[in-house]
Amino acid sequence: MFARTSTGKFYRKPFVILLIVLIALVAASVPIAIYSYRNGGTQTAQTNTAMGKCSTLPQITPLNSADIKSGLIYEIMVDRFFEGAPNKSIPANDTAPTDPTHQNWHAYWGGDLQGITDKIPYLAGMGVSAIWITPIVENITQPAYGDQAGYHGYWAQDDYQIDPHFGTWSDFDTLVQTAHSHGIQVIVDFAANHSNPRNTGADGAIYKNGVLQASYGNDPNNWFHHTQNQQSDSLYQQEYGTLEDLSDFAQENPAVDAYLKGAILQFSQHGADGFRFDSVKSMPGPTGGWLKTVSDAIEAKKPSYLVGEWYLTGGTGAVTYSEAAQFANSSGMAILNFPIDTALRDVYGVGLSSPNEINSTLQQEYKDFLWPNDLPNFIDNHDMARFLSLNSSHTSLNEALTAMMTIPGIPIVYYGTEQYLVNNNNSGEDPYNRPMMPGFSTTTQAYHLISCLAALRRANPALAYGNYAPIKITHDVYLFERQFGQSVVVTAINSSADTTHSFTNLQTALPAGSYTDVLGGLQGGSALQVGAQGMINSVALQPNEIAVWQYTAPDGQTPLLGSAAPELTHPGDTMILDGQGFGASGTVQIGGVSAKIIQWSTNSVSVTVPQIPGGLTTAKICNSAGCSGAYSVNIASAAQVPVNFTLNGLPTLTSSDHVYITGNVAELGNNSLDITKALGPMVTPDTGNVQFLLASLPACASIQYRYFIEHADGSYTMQSGSAQTYTVPCSGEGAITDNWQGK
Ligand code: NOJ
Repeated sequence: MFARTSTGKFYRKPFVILLIVLIALVAASVPIAIYSYRNGGTQTAQTNTAMGKCSTLPQITPLNSADIKSGLIYEIMVDRFFEGAPNKSIPANDTAPTDPTHQNWHAYWGGDLQGITDKIPYLAGMGVSAIWITPIVENITQPAYGDQAGYHGYWAQDDYQIDPHFGTWSDFDTLVQTAHSHGIQVIVDFAANHSNPRNTGADGAIYKNGVLQASYGNDPNNWFHHTQNQQSDSLYQQEYGTLEDLSDFAQENPAVDAYLKGAILQFSQHGADGFRFDSVKSMPGPTGGWLKTVSDAIEAKKPSYLVGEWYLTGGTGAVTYSEAAQFANSSGMAILNFPIDTALRDVYGVGLSSPNEINSTLQQEYKDFLWPNDLPNFIDNHDMARFLSLNSSHTSLNEALTAMMTIPGIPIVYYGTEQYLVNNNNSGEDPYNRPMMPGFSTTTQAYHLISCLAALRRANPALAYGNYAPIKITHDVYLFERQFGQSVVVTAINSSADTTHSFTNLQTALPAGSYTDVLGGLQGGSALQVGAQGMINSVALQPNEIAVWQYTAPDGQTPLLGSAAPELTHPGDTMILDGQGFGASGTVQIGGVSAKIIQWSTNSVSVTVPQIPGGLTTAKICNSAGCSGAYSVNIASAAQVPVNFTLNGLPTLTSSDHVYITGNVAELGNNSLDITKALGPMVTPDTGNVQFLLASLPACASIQYRYFIEHADGSYTMQSGSAQTYTVPCSGEGAITDNWQGK
């Protein structure tokens, strides 16, 4: 049992005096040094008492654009954040509804790029290291569905222009420069699945710098899939069906492929550090097809952080959960962590279950995802009711935020959370989850909590790169730790409003010593005493107490590798390795081959990916004291080009028969018949005899490939005859149409 001095509610004087004397003695004999491992190589010693105040944490330094694991992402719905340029020039023929009075929730309300630029210092003060901005390309210029505007950005009509309601390219450039000068990266949301709604508004019309390319009702060159709205979760329905009447791009059309990639790369050229891709499960070849070629094209320009929105309900039991994991492991993009969002909302939002739901979700994801620390976590976003609509308690919000910011993964805070923004009309569902930002106070409890934990994420690599281990989980208590090398962070949350929970003999990886709460007692966090061998003899968590304790180890001699990014590269691309203790020089091996060093510092090294065969392999870093552990990396054989396979003439298949392609390159599984390595499954509109797959293949490669059918019992039928051959185009997009050979 520990006295709580910050709130004064638990104050047993003699005990406290004894405790203070003991702490002073321990502190004098065992100075616990905390080092900023990202402080430009200069280590700044601090005491863990100073850490408790949160204000003396190291200066935020810019993260590199591939690895943002030690950061904090802030999601901004551009129209609803802040109006910085009230006199924007909107063309006279633009009739999209606007409403400066903020009454029509489907209209533009005025938020713009200049407004975000103006508020960059506010965001930097909260420890934000990256902003995710909802799409800013030009949306439809007339109302759809009666009075609705594309204020949210997901109804594009010109992916090459900035929406005049948000500003200009010059405003985007200014935003990027300002953000970068504050150590903040810019992640651009891009909808490559669709243009805008069909049969209303602009009828899907899509332009390139003002020149019409196609519309849904006038589509002689097949820019769109003319299909029904998605009817089920089947892969065919997801990839080729239409998502809620949004005119569905045919990415297998070379003109569409070139249009979309050109628009995306224009953002890279303007300094975007990463992308959030909308609706990734709805695009052809979701398990690493067309989007893998997009990832590769972006990463070849410069290392970037990429994340896809694979919408999932139902946690790790969701229908397409395993495809989502496969996508994250192979496409070059992380995915937004919907299972964790569900668990955090279940536990702290609606009190549906115990923190064990978060724990079991994480444990499952550790089995299924190659890079769990790369998945972004959130408690709400613009597509669901805000957390405060589920539970209006700020205490519960603090609990959810603390868990989200310390479990594995990169936290995303939805704009306004730090100001307790909420509107509960229609239970807070879309569009009421998108109110205007109410103000920019830097003194709210949530702003303080987020900034403390963001600073901790930068200071202690256990949160960015560490493993995860539960220490104690009960109906009310979530006590867990993260560890990277000798650095440790322990989080304790008691979500009971009326019960103190006490525990004895808990094991932690923290070194012996006394630790104060990183949050400075913000929600009653008390000190923790750790004895020899990491034994916590006793700890009592008061009702609704949150405590975060940490130890940041100084750099050791031997390298500790925490990240190798981006998630997909090919020979000749840049890879960035981050961690601790790299020293002044050394070597990097990727797939066992030495990589050319571009830049070396003690916690970040850039290299050129050597000429090695494609596939999943590992990277490691060595210096004169030794080598790091191996870190998984995904290397494509060469630049990636989309190739659309169409296979006709198949026998009638059952719904549990699946067709795969295997071939002589890593992208086709190196001739393996293991369906986790071969490419597939192909998709079909029915169980009939035509199947499609939009594959990502190495540019200019001569491939030999074969089709096979995998049956429910694990047996397979191989096509008869010899393998087919094909030369992948060196750029653009390829197409192959075959007939099934065999019975
Ligand atoms: C997901 C986005 O987050 C959502 O807001 C949008 O309406 C759909 N995709 C379609 O673009």
